Amino acid sequence: MLIAAMVLRYLHIILGITWFGGTVYRSLILLPGLATLSPEQRRPFLQSVQEGHETFLLTTGFLVIVLGIMLGAVVGPIQSGSALFTAYGVTWIASMTLAAIILGWEGFMVSPAIAALAPDDAEEVVVATEPARAVLPPVPSMPGSLRRAQTLAWIEVGGFCLLVSFMVLMHFGY
Ligand code: HEM
Repeated sequence: MLIAAMVLRYLHIILGITWFGGTVYRSLILLPGLATLSPEQRRPFLQSVQEGHETFLLTTGFLVIVLGIMLGAVVGPIQSGSALFTAYGVTWIASMTLAAIILGWEGFMVSPAIAALAPDDAEEVVVATEPARAVLPPVPSMPGSLRRAQTLAWIEVGGFCLLVSFMVLMHFGY
């Protein structure tokens, strides 16, 4: 059981920092870097990284939650229903809930906002001839849409800061 607890904790921590780190990297490096690109450069770049980044965040997030549930209920102190009403149980439930909200925020808010920076239906603008350009939908202007994506992404980072504080509380039995 001790080995299982150690392996679960190791996997949980390494995937947790990877998940969190992926969002910090996006807010601090990726999105500010995008602001320096022209629409023609931005679109192929976003199309090549966004889907992979999204899958990566959703997969690591899901695994962190599953491992967090096992850490609490399989090798941890949540061994009965009444344990859910202790300080530790409440923090554990709050962690699960907050992590699920963060995953939903990623999937339904941040990811669509970033995808909107390089819409599929404007893809042909890159190769379109001059007369065709006039009828294609315009690419959204960068500053407003980027600012929105950045704000949503930073809110997600804030959620992680709260989530990690729950880990500290559980470490000390709360
Ligand atoms: C980004 C997300 C997360 C990160 C970075 C993270 C990080 C950590 C770290 C570093 C520890 C070790 C704490 C220690 O022993 O000192 C830990 C423990 C733990 N985590 Fe997380 N965690 C995350 C999300 C979650 C979620 C969503 C849950 C619940 C579903 C959870 C449940 C737990 C539990 C039960 C422990 C064991 C606490 C204990 O009894 O010491 N974690 N986590």
